Amino acid sequence: MCGIVGYLGQKNSKEILLGGLKELEYRGYDSAGIAVLQDGKFESFKAIGKLINLEEKTKNFVTDKFSIGIGHTRWATHGKPTELNAHPHIGSESYVVHNGIIENYAALKTELLKDGITFLSQTDTEVIVHQFEKNLKITKSSFEAFKKTISQLEGAYAILLVTKGKEKTIFFAKNGSPMLVGVNAENEKYFASSDTPLIGHCTDVNYFEDGDYGYVTPDELAIFSKDGKKQEPKFTKLSTNKLSAQKDGFRFFMEKEIYEQVDVIADTLLGRLHDNEVLFDELDPTLFEGINEIKLCACGTSYHSALTATYLFERYSKIKTSIEVASEFRYRSPIMSKDTLFVVISQSGETADTLETLKMAKAAGLKTLVICNVDNSSMVRLADACILTRAGVEKGVASTKAFATQVTVFWMLSLYLAKKNKALSNEEIARQITLLREVPASVKVSDDMHERIKRLSKRYLHGHGFFFIGRDVFYPLALEGALKLKEISYLHAEGYPSGEMKHGPIALADPELFTIALLPQHLLYDKAKSNVEELSARDSTICAISAVEFDKADDFIAINKCKDYMLEFFEMMVAVQVLSLEISVRLGNDVDMPRNLAKSVTVE
Ligand code: G6P
Repeated sequence: MCGIVGYLGQKNSKEILLGGLKELEYRGYDSAGIAVLQDGKFESFKAIGKLINLEEKTKNFVTDKFSIGIGHTRWATHGKPTELNAHPHIGSESYVVHNGIIENYAALKTELLKDGITFLSQTDTEVIVHQFEKNLKITKSSFEAFKKTISQLEGAYAILLVTKGKEKTIFFAKNGSPMLVGVNAENEKYFASSDTPLIGHCTDVNYFEDGDYGYVTPDELAIFSKDGKKQEPKFTKLSTNKLSAQKDGFRFFMEKEIYEQVDVIADTLLGRLHDNEVLFDELDPTLFEGINEIKLCACGTSYHSALTATYLFERYSKIKTSIEVASEFRYRSPIMSKDTLFVVISQSGETADTLETLKMAKAAGLKTLVICNVDNSSMVRLADACILTRAGVEKGVASTKAFATQVTVFWMLSLYLAKKNKALSNEEIARQITLLREVPASVKVSDDMHERIKRLSKRYLHGHGFFFIGRDVFYPLALEGALKLKEISYLHAEGYPSGEMKHGPIALADPELFTIALLPQHLLYDKAKSNVEELSARDSTICAISAVEFDKADDFIAINKCKDYMLEFFEMMVAVQVLSLEISVRLGNDVDMPRNLAKSVTVE
């Protein structure tokens, strides 16, 4: 995801900003830029692709005296990864960098356009700098103008802004997106969106709280909280270990990514939920004209999220939906009709089998859509339309947050289509939108739950296999739970529909067969419970995951009581992810880089 850096001081600001952006490379980006104010003059450079392109552009730019500067690596959300869309964004005399999404940017932009402002980019960020300059004309004080601008923004942001009249000041604001400032004995100030760029430069750092805004000068760090009260900085010592800083203190990237789901799902939802409708600005409404059927195609974890979508599309959008594993679809001479929307799902956008099916669908003249995490990837470039999942870079080979954001997109898309097809009432769509807003909270990992699963995991290290079982959307979740466990524990695990166990697999039941039973309170609870009882009667060891206490289980992982089965889905998703993680840790495996697996499979 996007990265931010800022610097104020005597040293070589170009090198410091570029060095800082390099430290943020691991987060992924598709373009980068810097702006430096030195000797009363701004210089700004932007480049698409890797930082080396930006380094090349700045090679003759010398920063050898006091300056202020801001820099950014961009992971496209609004607008393609182009140089014009790269940050910093320019007003007439100011520059801004921003992480997050300004939800009300369209309304602000309409007003600014009426004022005759010209926009250079398609980003939401650009409104910030123009709004600031508009306010500056009225308030005449850059701090007051900045403060007013922040109060006009809705959404998530970490912002740095520099302006010509204030050559020793960097303005900052934080709400929902991370940012910290570091200081040292040389009166320098460093900003970044995570610790790593500051390591080696600063001794003490202040992590901003949501709602904080203010400014820095060589002698001052002025922080104001949401209510306008001035705050003392809360300095903490900076870690000196870069790898651990990249992992935000977690033991593994996978663990960090499980915990991060709260934030990335909030990003997935941002700007897309309205009172009683879901909006995807990126979709041309004509995409669904003449479409009577949806065909989904994917591999691995993405296949599981797509399988979840088949239930949601038929249930909520009332549209016929089918799904296939990409490697199968490729070689079985499928019949493709033009009233089918062909949807591929991929974290990377590069998986060879999935990409090939997209090419086949295009060649057959079908309309195509990709649900993807990486903008500008091969699938994004090829498909007619794209919805980005906004999960940020996923480093753990075992996918977690990518799956979570894909399912979130599918739930939203099912409501988007339900509205189009008049398949659900406005009241029902509004009710489900309220539930969607609760998804980030439902994926929060509680200390209690993590601790309980950690303790419990010691009983699940041996035995002759695991069955993860569930019904309806909990069947794809069971498949995903089993896949997570296989990937990182190397234990044999299968996902199965609960009702199918009696047609064969139940023959395996004995105390050494572990059944992980997904028992949602709000969907087919009694049916699923009977299936688990059948296994329990045959002495299989049962670990139930549910909000409802289940006396036939040997072990029980309690999830929070929820209003709807989809929220139970997300609660249970976290439980199975953490369970796989802890079993793998106990077995001493490499959680982030499991044997024999690759993050992106670009060969057949
Ligand atoms: C690989 C990864 C899986 C992933 C699958 C599909 O096998 O190890 O975690 O689910 O590819 O990847 P995609 O990028 O297309 O979602």
